[in-house]
Amino acid sequence: MGFNLGVDLGTTFVAAAISDQSQIEMVTLGDRSVVTPSVVCVREDGTVVTGEAASRRAASNPGRVAREFKRRLGDPTPIRLADSNYTATELLGMLLRDVVAKVTEAEGAAPERVMLTHPANWGAFRRGLFEEVPRLAGLTETSTITEPEAAAAYYAASRQLGSGDLVAVYDLGGGTFDATVVRKLPDGVETLGTPEGVERLGGIDFDQALYDFVNFSSDSALSELDARDPQTAVALARVRQDCVLAKEALSADTETLLPVFLPGRHFDVRITREKFESLVRAQIESTIGSLSRALRSAQVSPADLSAVLLVGGSSRIPLVSEMVSEEIGRPILVDTHPKYAVALGAATLAMMLGAPPGPPPGPPPGRPGAPPGRPVGPPGRQGAPQGRAAAPPGRQGAAPGRQGAPAGRPGAPPGRQGAPPGSPPGRQGPASGRPGGRPGGPVPPGRPGASAPRRGAPTGVGPAAPPVANRSEPVPAVAAPQTSTLGTKLALGIALVALAVAIVLVAVYLVHQFRTTALGGTSQPGHPVGVVAASLAAARPGLVAFGD
Ligand SMILES: Nc1ncnc2c1ncn2[C@@H]1O[C@H](COP(=O)(O)OP(=O)(O)OP(=O)(O)O)[C@@H](O)[C@H]1O
Ligand SMILES: [Mg+2]
Repeated sequence: MGFNLGVDLGTTFVAAAISDQSQIEMVTLGDRSVVTPSVVCVREDGTVVTGEAASRRAASNPGRVAREFKRRLGDPTPIRLADSNYTATELLGMLLRDVVAKVTEAEGAAPERVMLTHPANWGAFRRGLFEEVPRLAGLTETSTITEPEAAAAYYAASRQLGSGDLVAVYDLGGGTFDATVVRKLPDGVETLGTPEGVERLGGIDFDQALYDFVNFSSDSALSELDARDPQTAVALARVRQDCVLAKEALSADTETLLPVFLPGRHFDVRITREKFESLVRAQIESTIGSLSRALRSAQVSPADLSAVLLVGGSSRIPLVSEMVSEEIGRPILVDTHPKYAVALGAATLAMMLGAPPGPPPGPPPGRPGAPPGRPVGPPGRQGAPQGRAAAPPGRQGAAPGRQGAPAGRPGAPPGRQGAPPGSPPGRQGPASGRPGGRPGGPVPPGRPGASAPRRGAPTGVGPAAPPVANRSEPVPAVAAPQTSTLGTKLALGIALVALAVAIVLVAVYLVHQFRTTALGGTSQPGHPVGVVAASLAAARPGLVAFGD
């Protein structure tokens, strides 16, 4: 059976997930982590390496290494590496090529379908440039979806979202911020209103804020150095890296020490979470403003939201959930791995596109590759009209994300040799021994990127929708979680037990009152209330402890 690949080409990290009819799971792209840095290095011999292999060379070969280039998409100024010029599109293509090569090597076959994601607030120009990326990576059969829609599809598949539920997706990653309102449909999800964002705001700006703070608190020890000196350049690169680590540590700890190793000098800078928050508060406030605008544009009030999904690594900063909760006053969901939600959603949607109508497979047992605590059921095609996932409306229209490929699936993409030698198997969890993919598999008859009249869009929404083709069409059906019926039964059972306990307590209270007033008695050991409480304590210690 073939498999599908979802790829989140982020500003700072690339994440990928694969799906087939039985499971959806992250692919381990790095040597030590599931995601791999969005870094490209052109070596002395002209060959290109990406990811961790490129990142390792960054300190010693800064002129040969490019990072954070997703932000440069559409910038006419070329990115100079060694003696050559590159566009951001080309560099993203190199990243994608290596991801596909690694997955193909690990799985023993190329993916049947590839779903790429991009920020929701990109305009037509950048979306057009982005469509070049898969072609440059040697792929001919790809689809695109916005990052928040992919994240929402993943949440819809793994959480109990009811049809019509509204969620806001707050995506604060490494380089961009996106705020989008999404509605769950019986057979998919759709974006409402106009996604908002802050063009250049993400983790790398918070890293820079810390770097500036270190410089300030050390009397310009960093800025007065000559960064052209190779030894100094290496030292400064290390300080930047330590700023990233300190920032991430402050999401868990309330203070940390940032070591600064400069040529001939070493000192530590102590940073508290409070200090860090004061450095980034204004920037995070601007994301809250965007979120509010996205809600207004969708004509949705905070009270209408079922939840706000916090997506992107930077949403782990505690101040983010604090400020979002304060503003919205609604339950906040934070994924255990907010960096994975987009790739998992893309893989989910890629599977939906290729899924034949029919009964869904059962839930995969265990799924070791899935993020802990986040079981992702297979897509609930049972919730979708037959064939809905395979043929969303508007399929006949222009397909901006599709590369106009012939129906035949390409072979292994070029550039496979670019994968770092000795790469470990890309897949988390035990190898599944998948057979090769279906060569020449049919073009999925529907894709989220196709233009179509928006379904269920609020009528009379003020601003015209921006030209985001794949915003306007419902995303194919996503699973109703397998646990929903069980959850309802459980809730009903708990309600009945609670009612019975309430009746007993009232009866006991009345008896007690009667004894106190009519008989002049008092509570004794073994009093019925104590017995009920004791048996409750035995049965549900958490409940009693909560009361404590
Ligand atoms: N625990 C944490 N606390 C604070 N920041 C974190 C934490 N974990 C990761 N980050 C930051 O999250 C960012 C990476 O997140 P993510 O992978 O979602 O971004 P991306 O997809 O590369 O970027 P974008 O979506 O903006 O293009 C980095 O800046 C990283 O330092
Ligand atoms: Mg991202």
